[in-house]
Amino acid sequence: MTFTISDRLKNVSGSAIREIFELLKSGDIISFAGGMPSAQTLPAKEIDDILNGIVSRYGAIECLQYESTFGKARLMQSLKPFLAEYKNLSAENENMIVLSGAQQCIDFACKTFVNKGDVVLVQNPTYLSVLQIVATYEGKCVGVNSSEDGLDIKDLEEKMRKHKPKLLYAVPTFSNPSSGEYTLQNRKAIAELTARHGVMVLEDDPYSEIRFEGEKLPPLKSFDTAGNIIYVASFSKIISPSLRVAVAVCDPAIIAKFNISKQSTDVCSSSLSQLIVSEFLQGDALKKHLANIIPAYRKKRDKMAECIKQHMPASFKCNAARGGMFLWGEFPDGRDLMPDFRKLIDKKVAFLPGTHFFAGGEGKNTMRLNFSNASPEQIEQGVRVMGEHFR
Ligand SMILES: Cc1ncc(COP(=O)(O)O)c(C=O)c1O
Repeated sequence: MTFTISDRLKNVSGSAIREIFELLKSGDIISFAGGMPSAQTLPAKEIDDILNGIVSRYGAIECLQYESTFGKARLMQSLKPFLAEYKNLSAENENMIVLSGAQQCIDFACKTFVNKGDVVLVQNPTYLSVLQIVATYEGKCVGVNSSEDGLDIKDLEEKMRKHKPKLLYAVPTFSNPSSGEYTLQNRKAIAELTARHGVMVLEDDPYSEIRFEGEKLPPLKSFDTAGNIIYVASFSKIISPSLRVAVAVCDPAIIAKFNISKQSTDVCSSSLSQLIVSEFLQGDALKKHLANIIPAYRKKRDKMAECIKQHMPASFKCNAARGGMFLWGEFPDGRDLMPDFRKLIDKKVAFLPGTHFFAGGEGKNTMRLNFSNASPEQIEQGVRVMGEHFR
């Protein structure tokens, strides 16, 4: 059978990272390629305790029935103090919708605002799934120059004038892949500039609680005076990605469109997952879990940074990552790391070539290294093998 694929999908390639994950399943590879929370610190006991007798406690309808597309009332109640305490945001029910992960929010934002041929501005480098999602709506990603301190405001303004983008996608705190953190001044400038140019912003914030040092900064959304910023907080990295729970906070008119998208995509997010998150937020489970994972991740970041210093050539420059899950490194311009990636897979070590995170495919000399999921011993051994390869 010859399949006639829609124009929308026929030219969209699979995510390189998912294919790499398939590759990694085969064999005993030390992987710095993924973006997963540490398997050792997933809150297994806490979730076991919550699930134990959950249907008897809440009843079959609350646990096992379809839910409101907007989200479970009980969870919405616990989200308000969570958003206020952790995110510096106040939200009412009309400003919130529970989504099946931040990924669904990116999808719905594109579905709502992006027509064929429209431009979405992204930080260069950006979260690679955004490149794929925008492509499925036949839009085009254009990269905005950035540094560890945020977006280059002059470049952002020039690109807004030139491309009349429908959306700016940003991860201001510990971005994936480069773990940068936009300064306070940069956040204010982005909010002001996008409001002035009438550009919608999607602020994706899955990592801000995983902070190792430095003062907590308010989200872009807290400087939103025009209603143009959609904010999404995910529980994937701070509780568990299998729950598929995130919350979007934005103008009620956009919530209404997201609700229509969600009705046709998955009807509602899982009731059981929503109850787990709600219980996690009501007691002190989230606080305790963060108190457990932050020092563990900090230790792994320090270990990886120390091993890089010891084993990698001096020409390899790496960021310091004040939070999140990744180190971002680069060799001098002109080096293409794809062949090194393949050779290192044969030596049983995987990093993620950074080029996959660039809108224009540049950054061939860059790499992302995940430190959250490998053990300290694996970090030591893996970076040593990388060092022997690159020296
Ligand atoms: C920046 C960013 N956004 C979104 C996601 C997906 O998150 P979720 O599991 O909430 O869909 C990830 C996962 O790695 C991410 O790094």
